[in-house]
Amino acid sequence: MATMESLIGLVNKIQRACTVLGDHGGQGMSLWEALPSVAVVGGQSSGKSSVLESIVGRDFLPRGSGIVTRRPLVLQLHKTASGAEYAEFLHAPKRRFTDFAAVRKEISDETDRITGKTKQISNIPIHLSIYSPNVVNLTLIDLPGLTKVAVEGQSDSIVEDIENMVRSYVEKPNCIILAITPANQDIATSDAIKLAREVDPSGERTFGVLTKLDLMDKGTNATEVLEGRAYRLQHPWVGIVNRSQADINKNVDMIVARRKEREYFETSPDYGHLASRMGSEYLAKLLSQHLEHVIRQRIPSIIAMINKTIDELNAELDRIGRPVAADGGAQLYMILELCRAFDRVFKEHLD
Ligand code: GDP
Ligand code: NA
Ligand code: MG
Repeated sequence: MATMESLIGLVNKIQRACTVLGDHGGQGMSLWEALPSVAVVGGQSSGKSSVLESIVGRDFLPRGSGIVTRRPLVLQLHKTASGAEYAEFLHAPKRRFTDFAAVRKEISDETDRITGKTKQISNIPIHLSIYSPNVVNLTLIDLPGLTKVAVEGQSDSIVEDIENMVRSYVEKPNCIILAITPANQDIATSDAIKLAREVDPSGERTFGVLTKLDLMDKGTNATEVLEGRAYRLQHPWVGIVNRSQADINKNVDMIVARRKEREYFETSPDYGHLASRMGSEYLAKLLSQHLEHVIRQRIPSIIAMINKTIDELNAELDRIGRPVAADGGAQLYMILELCRAFDRVFKEHLD
């Protein structure tokens, strides 16, 4: 019997295959829409990219003050059994990145290729896959931060453009929302929570994440929120301590950062009693569990959709005549094979 991990791994593969298939007539699109992914939502510099990095356990995203994330980044994590750890971009499939600083540079460069070296944003996503023994199988989406005002060099419509872009991801019923709110700002005015409430009023797919706990004013704390008394969500809030800008400048690595985060909660007079339910590692686990739950619920409808996709792919292959040597045909075969594998695994899970 396949493990849930391999099931989520298959989901990732199918999502990727559907992406590769892309313009091929869109057979994969309905399937893609049905599969769960996780998106981060929040104001600028609230810590979105940092949270994603700590979930991945690697340093590879452009971060910092200002508008750093200017295109959606669709990030697929694949857990590898071997020790291999590398990254691949969909726009550069032949290049295998083992240096994560180079991944960060390529994200920046690829952002600039579309937007120019401006502060403009673009809806066109960057697709990145990370293969590592240290990740859980997940698809994560990093999004530009919500803003209140345009800055020099940006069009007046940027505030609305960003909100619409973010909404287009999080309004999908299969999107799990990480609503990122910095603890050192007024939580009542959190743009993340506002947008999450709008697209997910019941809160069944929203996770409230409170960052920057270490930056709160002395004498204040966030226990009201973290204990679910201030802003009740269906899922528990998770508090996070990411690396500060000073840590980043000093190249404090991820393993050390995770340890420091754990120590922060364990030794905190305010949050010690919550320590086992706080931090990035716990958040990653929580998300993985939730994905498992969602996938199990969806198994029957996903099987129906897979069967429809298999029929469509077979029809398409008949139309173009098989066997085909062309790339397009090979891709169709690949996705067909994946669908069959997927179908098998899902059926096992039904038993
Ligand atoms: P994004 O714009 O929402 O993607 O935010 P980033 O992840 O780029 O973080 C913005 C800045 O806030 C960076 O300088 C981070 O180092 C800093 N930062 C993010 N989270 C925390 C945190 O929990 N504690 C501290 N001290 N700094 C943080
Ligand atoms: Na930023
Ligand atoms: Mg960012």
